[in-house]
Amino acid sequence: MKSLEYVTDVLIIGSGAAGLSLALRLAEHCNVIVISKNQLHNCSTWYAQGGIAAVFADTDSINDHIDDTVRTGAGLCDDKAVEFIIGNARKCVDWLVQQGVLFDLVNDNKSSNNSYHLNLEGGHSHRRVLHSADTTGKAIATILINKVRKHSNIRILEQCNAVDLVTSNTIGLCGIKRVIGTYIWNSSKKQVERCYAHAAVVLATGGASNVYQYTTNPDISSGDGIAIAWRAGCRVANLEFNQFHPTSLFNPNAPNFLLTEALRGEGAYLYRPDGSRFMPDFDLRAELAPRDIIARAINYEMKRLEAKCMYLDISYKPKQVIINKFPNIYSKLLKINLDLTSQKIPIVPAAHYTCGGVIVDQYGRTDIDGLYAIGEVSYTGLHGANRLASNSLLECIVYGWSASLDIISNKLPTIVRKVHKLPPWHNYNNVSEIDTKLLKHNLQKLRLIMWNNVGIVRNSTLLDSALNSINLLTSEIEYYYDNVIISNNLLEIRNLLHIARLIVKSALLRKESRGLHYTLDYPTMQQHYSRPTILKP
Ligand code: FAD
Ligand code: SIN
Repeated sequence: MKSLEYVTDVLIIGSGAAGLSLALRLAEHCNVIVISKNQLHNCSTWYAQGGIAAVFADTDSINDHIDDTVRTGAGLCDDKAVEFIIGNARKCVDWLVQQGVLFDLVNDNKSSNNSYHLNLEGGHSHRRVLHSADTTGKAIATILINKVRKHSNIRILEQCNAVDLVTSNTIGLCGIKRVIGTYIWNSSKKQVERCYAHAAVVLATGGASNVYQYTTNPDISSGDGIAIAWRAGCRVANLEFNQFHPTSLFNPNAPNFLLTEALRGEGAYLYRPDGSRFMPDFDLRAELAPRDIIARAINYEMKRLEAKCMYLDISYKPKQVIINKFPNIYSKLLKINLDLTSQKIPIVPAAHYTCGGVIVDQYGRTDIDGLYAIGEVSYTGLHGANRLASNSLLECIVYGWSASLDIISNKLPTIVRKVHKLPPWHNYNNVSEIDTKLLKHNLQKLRLIMWNNVGIVRNSTLLDSALNSINLLTSEIEYYYDNVIISNNLLEIRNLLHIARLIVKSALLRKESRGLHYTLDYPTMQQHYSRPTILKP
């Protein structure tokens, strides 16, 4: 048996806004390991465009931000969580600014602190979204990455993929079940390693939108943290609510690319292929309605007209204004011969955000002692049945702060620095390899099933049929998992199959339509379903 490879006070799994902000807050008090399954910047945070929502305008108020969040969440938001997150928003955004993040100012006068340029996005009753042009995520991630790389108390392990947790139960310790470590697949060394954590393990692994064929997310979003927590015994909630962003670029020859909602905030309209606007027919707020409504309208029009896509157009605005506000989108589109300043851009909806996740309290604590979940992997109660635009980065930063408070005041003081042996990896002796093409083929199959059967519009027959196919694929993949040498591809599809099953089961339990969950069998909202869908392992 190999000896333990890593020992730390806190292990953070994931290097997005949630994981890195927590690492920086903790590193003043203890040592931290951050693992990331690719390079640090390979995360959804990096790609965030629109910005981060917080009340900075004099005409705005915390109550209005709360009301917008709750209205968009379609009756399923947890009031306490909403008040907690939005009440602490400004303080946490200020912390980002102290770290060095530069948000755009009204007059580009970088010395002023109270005149941020604020974007307007769907569902918001005020301009409220701080941003760095149209690459806000990159601006935040760059600062956080630079700081964690320089911090002497933070050790970074890239290409390291958390596989599963080890708990006190697994190694026969008595007392309440607590997390003590993690198995890690080191994909560059091609070996399973182990990490022991004295105080806490934090899942900050992002969402699961990669379970769908079309997504705005990078391919790291394979729901690993949710699957890992579920296998360890944590409850999950609201996984039927996967958000589809209405405006992802439609171009079969280009990688998925988001066209930020801030474009509609600045006046972009949505058009049918014949040039007519359609959103006013669906909602009084037209292009500024929440995402569930717009994505469903686009889906409806595409099916009705047998159209491959709809169109987004901001070209009536002055060219230089468009280029100044959306420089990244403008230049990315130009590379594929689309000019945002002079033509309509083809768009389709794509899976974007996992509103449900691992159930946590105000400090990111899960059902297992010492195990935390923060960021998109978690279910805090903020988003309810549909997330308000730009509330996600906010949730990451607020929980990076609140989890640090709990770990610092409740976990670190009780550390006994005794290292228990983690059991060896169960299938160390496997020698056969699995053909990557076979795994990719199965992954493709799964993502198509989810897109076709568990997408924007569902029905019970489609959901039942999806569940059957998922169960069949699961038996095959679990067999490989037990008998072959593991790989990133194998771990990814294994986790996505767990996620897919949880999404479908949650969707089958919700016999109504609400927010992002729309089923033709139960097309209206039912009062007695005004509660989260909770699954227990
Ligand atoms: P991520 O940033 O996704 O980071 C997850 C990390 O976990 C990655 O480092 C990944 O490698 C690592 N990881 C995953 N699994 C494992 C594993 N098994 N082992 C080790 N490491 C693992 N939200 C907003 O509020 N405003 C926006 O403007 C906005 N725009 C967006 C635009 C795009 C294109 C996308 C995709 C999302 C956008 N969102 C936006 C949503 C928001 O960016 C994400 O919800 C948020 O960044 C998630 O942060 P996170 O830290 O939870 O996870
Ligand atoms: C966008 O810029 O449209 C994405 C914002 C978000 O996901 O909150």
